[in-house]
Amino acid sequence: MQRKILVTSALPYANGSIHLGHLVEYIQTDIWVRFQKMRGHECHYICADDAHGTPIMLRAQSEGITPETLIANTQQEHQADFADFNIHFDNFHSTHSKENQALANQIYLSNKAAGHITTRTISQAYDPEKEMFLPDRFIRGECPKCHAHDQYGDNCEACGATYDPTDLINPVSAVSGATPITKDSEHHFFKLGDFENDLKKWTRAGHLQSEVSHKLDEWFESGLRDWDISRDAPYFGFEIPDAPNKFFYVWLDAPIGYLASFKNYCDRTGVSFDEYMKADSTTEMVHFIGKDIIYFHALFWPAMLQGAGFRLPNSIFAHGFLTVDGKKMSKSRGTFIKARTYLDHLNPEYLRYYYAAKLGSGIDDIDLNLEDFQSRINSDLVGKVVNIASRCAGYINKKFEGQLSASLADAELFNEFTAQADTIAEKMEKREFGHAMRDIMALADKANQYIDEMKPWALAKEEGKEQQVHDIYSMGINLFRVLISYLKPVLPHTVAQAETFLNIAPLTWDDISTPLLNHTITKFKPLMTRIETDKLDAILEASKETMVTKDLAKESNNDIEPIADEISFDDFAKIDLRIAKIVTAEHVEGAKKLLKLTLDIGNGEKQVFAGIKSAYNPEDLTGKLTVMVANLAPRKMRFGLSEGMVLAAGPGGKDLFILNPDEGAQPGMRVK
Ligand code: 2FM
Ligand code: ZN
Repeated sequence: MQRKILVTSALPYANGSIHLGHLVEYIQTDIWVRFQKMRGHECHYICADDAHGTPIMLRAQSEGITPETLIANTQQEHQADFADFNIHFDNFHSTHSKENQALANQIYLSNKAAGHITTRTISQAYDPEKEMFLPDRFIRGECPKCHAHDQYGDNCEACGATYDPTDLINPVSAVSGATPITKDSEHHFFKLGDFENDLKKWTRAGHLQSEVSHKLDEWFESGLRDWDISRDAPYFGFEIPDAPNKFFYVWLDAPIGYLASFKNYCDRTGVSFDEYMKADSTTEMVHFIGKDIIYFHALFWPAMLQGAGFRLPNSIFAHGFLTVDGKKMSKSRGTFIKARTYLDHLNPEYLRYYYAAKLGSGIDDIDLNLEDFQSRINSDLVGKVVNIASRCAGYINKKFEGQLSASLADAELFNEFTAQADTIAEKMEKREFGHAMRDIMALADKANQYIDEMKPWALAKEEGKEQQVHDIYSMGINLFRVLISYLKPVLPHTVAQAETFLNIAPLTWDDISTPLLNHTITKFKPLMTRIETDKLDAILEASKETMVTKDLAKESNNDIEPIADEISFDDFAKIDLRIAKIVTAEHVEGAKKLLKLTLDIGNGEKQVFAGIKSAYNPEDLTGKLTVMVANLAPRKMRFGLSEGMVLAAGPGGKDLFILNPDEGAQPGMRVK
């Protein structure tokens, strides 16, 4: 029976680049969707940028552009990254869209009419200078427990304590530096508790992974509290229909963005929105998400939908986080790798395969171990799968003009390969991609063994064995065809090239058991090359930031960089620090964080690209002094050669300090 499935991945925020951590989810979902389509189901993969909220508003301000321009630029970048990773959305939209505004209003007003919205006045931190309420993440101060300085308003990264922003000692606004005051304002709340019984049933009815339902039990035990869904102006979002100057909190309209993007798609393609969205729909709605946003998707989202008379999701599939070489991604180690940086050096299908090989149906974190990555790709994809085709094609092309044999040399072996179609499909369906990849690679080993044992290259030297050799190589091609059918959801681009080589229509799951006989293939071109170590080194190098700046415009940034590996005093002594005078400072076309500096270090000038654009206008820098690592080997950056590094200190963002000219310091002086 043909299923009708609407599939989503979480909407990426419109103020940051896609990185390898995000890609776990998009690749996982894309593989699942491609698999469903290959099985003949109607499946729509829908996504959008998550465009609202304070961080986006402030980021746009700091870049001197409108939020609309910021989100349009980001959307372009995101879509290019996804497309180049062969992630195919049927629709990619934005939460800042007319469809989303209409649906957010509808869902809000229906819930309100049903009595699920309430208002009450709350006191909150307010920045009197910037004249805005401050989200907890935008208040910094001293931890009330351990007295660590410069901690966030809701938790301390030094001791792990959680508290209210009002508990912070000497709080300051991260936006203006002013001391926050407390101010009252009326807020709108969604009464989650109204849905407690239904949610208890729903969360235990097989829509969630078992480890997720258990987590929810804990949340039920601690009670479902009203959810604050409004924010005061200034806020980049949708104004609440019956509340001037109040806006929907970004997390209210974000999941509605799934429906809005789908609506936009339906209007464009003629797919019926109502058929998918009505309360008694027989279609499926499936959300892939990270485990950090389960609360929003497994509680608020179904409750909002129910309150508005829409259908509920069939499944919420959560996954774990990505670590690189066993550790959290880190800018200083160069393992905070952006999608684009990876794409500049490596084939996206390698990462797709590696993630597939690591992914299961649970919420465990997955590790990208770079050495393992390299050896798996080289041995599995290049050494096993692609190798079969390259071993077999030459002879068939040369001696038989590409024509395959009329019958299978080993029908039993072929059947053994195709007999796994159902079990592999079952594993793919359940998102047990790692198990499926293992099965496929075991078959690839078998195919290579078959060729090794038959030794067609030796037979080819004997008289009168041409037909036998032809049959063996044709058999190899047929086994290759089964393998790439199984791999097609994971390696769409490589398999498309292989389809051209085999001269066949796009493979579907139903085709798998029909061998290619008496069929003419085309010339074989290498489908994939090995990963060389220098490519990985180049990715790490390009991902290392010249300066670690804290990104205040990101609400959920709680990653304190771990201290890097120890260095000896001798290593440290090698660093030649000099006072440098900034002769010129210029904007760099296309660079968000960098300024190009020309520095006078007494005995000549050096050019350095420094990530201090968030803190300084170039014109304010001329004539200032800074400290520079003068003996750093020049590095080729995307924008030109950088011949050193400048040192600046401060919490980040706008607060990064370099030296003012002072009588004592002269360009070229050594800093000790
Ligand atoms: O956590 C995030 O990155 C959010 N932008 C995800 C939103 S998913 C959906 F609810 F829109
Ligand atoms: Zn603390």
